Amino acid sequence: MAIVAKGRYGYFDPETREYVITRPDTPRIWHNYLMNDSYVAMISHTAGGVSYDTDPRVYRLLRYRYQNVPYDRPGRYIYLHDHRSHACWSATWAPMHMPVEQCRYTCRVGTNYQIIAMEFNGIRTEVTYFVPPRGRQEIWDLRVTNTSSRRRTLSTFSYAEFAFWGALRDLMNIDNTPNISLQEYHRDLGAIAHHSWNDIGTGLHDMHFVQHYGFHISTPRPSGYTGDRDRFLGDCYRSEKDPLVVLRGRSEDYCGNSGYPIGSLEHRFSLAPGQTRRIVYRTGMAREKKGWRREALVYRDFVAVDRAFAALRAAWRRRLDMFQVKTPDPEFDCVVNGFVQYQSAMTMRLSRSISPYEWGIGRSIGFRDSSQDQMGMLHAFPEVGRRMLQAIIGAIREDGQACHDFNPLTRSWGVSGFYDDHNWPALTVNQYVRETGDVKFLGEKIAFQGTSRKSAVFDRLVAAQDFAWKMRGQHGLLQTGCADWNDSLNPGDKATESLFTSALYCASTRALIELAEHTGRTGQVAAWRKRYDAVRRQMNTVGWDGAWYRRMIRPDGFVFGSRKSRGYAKIFIEPQPWAVMAGVIGGRRAEKMLDQVEKRLGSPWGHRIMDLPFRKFDMEGVGSATVVTPGNKENGAVFNHASAWMIMAEALLGRGDRAYEYFMRKAGTTKNRRADVYEVEPYVSCQFVSQPPFHRVGRGRNQWLTGSAAWIALGAMQGILGCRPGFSGLVLDPSIPAKWPGFELTREFRGTTYHIVVRNPRRVSHGVAKTVVDGAKVPGNTIPHDPKKKRVEVVVTLG
Ligand code: GLC
Repeated sequence: MAIVAKGRYGYFDPETREYVITRPDTPRIWHNYLMNDSYVAMISHTAGGVSYDTDPRVYRLLRYRYQNVPYDRPGRYIYLHDHRSHACWSATWAPMHMPVEQCRYTCRVGTNYQIIAMEFNGIRTEVTYFVPPRGRQEIWDLRVTNTSSRRRTLSTFSYAEFAFWGALRDLMNIDNTPNISLQEYHRDLGAIAHHSWNDIGTGLHDMHFVQHYGFHISTPRPSGYTGDRDRFLGDCYRSEKDPLVVLRGRSEDYCGNSGYPIGSLEHRFSLAPGQTRRIVYRTGMAREKKGWRREALVYRDFVAVDRAFAALRAAWRRRLDMFQVKTPDPEFDCVVNGFVQYQSAMTMRLSRSISPYEWGIGRSIGFRDSSQDQMGMLHAFPEVGRRMLQAIIGAIREDGQACHDFNPLTRSWGVSGFYDDHNWPALTVNQYVRETGDVKFLGEKIAFQGTSRKSAVFDRLVAAQDFAWKMRGQHGLLQTGCADWNDSLNPGDKATESLFTSALYCASTRALIELAEHTGRTGQVAAWRKRYDAVRRQMNTVGWDGAWYRRMIRPDGFVFGSRKSRGYAKIFIEPQPWAVMAGVIGGRRAEKMLDQVEKRLGSPWGHRIMDLPFRKFDMEGVGSATVVTPGNKENGAVFNHASAWMIMAEALLGRGDRAYEYFMRKAGTTKNRRADVYEVEPYVSCQFVSQPPFHRVGRGRNQWLTGSAAWIALGAMQGILGCRPGFSGLVLDPSIPAKWPGFELTREFRGTTYHIVVRNPRRVSHGVAKTVVDGAKVPGNTIPHDPKKKRVEVVVTLG
């Protein structure tokens, strides 16, 4: 067992790519996800959390009470009752919260699985939670071992609280929901079935009831059951912490309609010293009546469960093995080979749908969010990227504008008017084509939202380009519209020009030109180049403040982010790294500009979003950032998404020491050492880290589903390690710390495994002097892709 970066609450295990939590009383609730292509479950380190199938608003299965105290209720609990001492406890610490000193607890946070082990009262329990690769269900695989020296007679009680599946109705229609639930115990299977009516309509006045079928079942069959929350708890003055059924050590054997349905199954058994008992619980759902029994029986034997778990782990291992690095820094390797990729892969799928801060009833897929999320892990999940890109392109309207958010399942599309949105997909599609070589995708016809009319992916990108060009302001820079990437810098005057969107537009235009040239669609390339040059010129004149780019220019002349600003921030981060990424600035001037970013915005956690938060409410002149407490979120925190762009920008300038340092400020291993200050999961990135004047400097919030995930992954893999997909082959352009003597990388690219050794005899940060592919020298730093080869050996020498 390997241990990296041991901290007060846990450590990283690079061999299994797990983070191991070693005590349950973490400063906040720490989460993970279990899922397959259809069923998604969020699970905390003490087993709390929600689950759903396909869509968190419509097909919700397990309830989770947000903004609630106690936090993190309810969960996938397993209670124990000792029939001699009548001691009661819970196998995942929550919800009974036994004295921490008496619990030997670990939680292995794995790739879509969670193993929570506990030794308490001379009994060891271990629960492996996961979602099998196929089906609509989750598995809780429990092992109970008697570690004491006497025979023990125990009862275990599982607990799963079902939500009415229409999550919106569950919240808003309490008058009705407790009266539409149907549940029964099926003696033949030993299963509790929950058959509620589910409103899959789009709102309270658009009812569309269908019946869905949920279940909770176990192997072996239970000795008792309780299907009603109130009966399980005993009365309405109790909670999950002291349920009467558990305290008494006997189930109610009751299951009836109405009320609040749960699944609780009891197993009464006795264990000789050293003996282990295994019980596998499964909770899931089906959309038709016949289906639930079939689903409930799939994993009824232990062999099938073991096989499913092995398949899940093997699948993840295979995907993560597609990019594995070995550098002189084991902490860097540990995070890049593990959680950096894992989190980025999760955001590809989940967008901003369900997290500790997103409860799945609001926005589903954010247009700009998902466009960026796809870029991080395309090499490992091209099929997910393709599917998401189809949905994203489908949300570009005929006039080239994008819908800011949308839900492909319920076919609902949000508003338009955020003028950064339509600029993102060209970058993502460009990345997708370079990664996969799938140029056919550009010709694929995709329907316009809500219609059967279709147009090709490439034409949609052209429409978006034309729309973006149209929406320039009085200085020829791109207008902001409702807001640019920064949601809360949204002045009332929509004609406000944004230097961020202008830079993004340039990057997007370059990406489109590359796609056009690569596929011979060159008709408009000259015109697009002219547009690029024009915007670039304006950025470097009107938009340039002397040492950095301004942030926005309002039609009334007010400038955000200028050295002349009084009482407002003089510099904002967003346009600076993007100007580098878009090729709008380069060389020494770019370096000096990024030096200013570090000098004025740098912190041990990353770069702050601006150097002075807003302090006065001004919705019309500034926007909703002015209601955010100074030092938090977009109002002055280290907003990790924007701050992660700095890693890539520095890497592109070849300043490897800086790129590496900025990456390490955000690395899980670094945060793990400051876990008490940072509070949230150190193993993944969060949205923002609070900064002065907020009094809790270094506190993280809004973890997991954040745009920083993809950009941190890109910063490490394509920036620092410099391994980028190119149209004709793999490009190697590392920007590493000068002291590294080299590194080694295994990278899969279009079905070929590249084993790359980078040597750095002259201790430089950047610059490829020689590339040798399978023993032969090749010019430049692109390894031409040969689909016939399964494995390619590359030696790159820097200097
Ligand atoms: C949130 C939003 C994202 C936005 C960012 C900055 O993360 O999901 O769309 O770009 O905040 O405001």
